[in-house]
Amino acid sequence: MARIIAGMGTSHVPGLGAAMDNGKTGEPYWQPLFKGLEPVRAWHKDNIPDVTIIVYNDHATSYSLDNYSTFTMGVAEEFIPADEGWGPRQVPMVMGHPELAWHITENLILNEFDMAVAGSLEVDHGLTVPLSVAYDQPDVWPTKVIPLCVNVIQYPQPTPLRCYKLGQAIRRAVESFPEDLSVGIWGTGGMSHQLGGERAGVLNPEFDTAFMNNLVSDPAANTRLTHTDFIREAGCEGIEMIMWNVMRGALNDNVNEIYRFYHIPVSATAYGAIILENTD
Ligand code: DHB
Ligand code: FE
Repeated sequence: MARIIAGMGTSHVPGLGAAMDNGKTGEPYWQPLFKGLEPVRAWHKDNIPDVTIIVYNDHATSYSLDNYSTFTMGVAEEFIPADEGWGPRQVPMVMGHPELAWHITENLILNEFDMAVAGSLEVDHGLTVPLSVAYDQPDVWPTKVIPLCVNVIQYPQPTPLRCYKLGQAIRRAVESFPEDLSVGIWGTGGMSHQLGGERAGVLNPEFDTAFMNNLVSDPAANTRLTHTDFIREAGCEGIEMIMWNVMRGALNDNVNEIYRFYHIPVSATAYGAIILENTD
């Protein structure tokens, strides 16, 4: 059967992708961040799953605000890196896994998660930056990818608890796939940040640290947070962190924290990464 082996949470700050694409990672501003990513990359090099479910959000790139689904599964053979205004990032095509994606989709819908299904998606920094975080600049991404797009930008968004339950249902769906596949799952976005409005620039290391601590030892605590808690404590775009709950819900109750890195600021964002491995 297929099995989920590990999860990662990571911010998806677009500037990080731009720094890599434009050869600026050694500059003083970026050097501490990329130094902190070295253990992330070392771990990923040794733990490449057959397929990675990347829980991410589209930033009104592939979707317009007129038509925004709460949860969307990407079932295509491949996903094109999107043009977000500066031309598409020069990163490899993202290769899908339609068989597993359709299996998970069917299983989720039969279990009352009414997923939207995307036969094509242009994937923006929300998905390509996490791939760059994990794998640096390869010619080909070493894992197949199932994009799972969550609406975090248009009200009303799904609750943090619903996201966690979706993760639990994804795990059951993966484990009912007959083929032996190793599967990773990433929750992306966050951590605290707000890009516009009166509180633009808000960062909250205490909140972010408590959220990461809870991911390890008390994931239910992160499901009791409300949208208002996220907005108040972590800024409007901090709500992207609900996608980390999908990742955590798909893991065992007990996990090993392999690595954690936190750095402030990256662009307008608190950067956080955490790798969690299932224990038996
Ligand atoms: C930034 C962060 C984001 O999550 C995003 O989607 C866009 C910009 C930033 O900090 O610059
Ligand atoms: Fe974002």
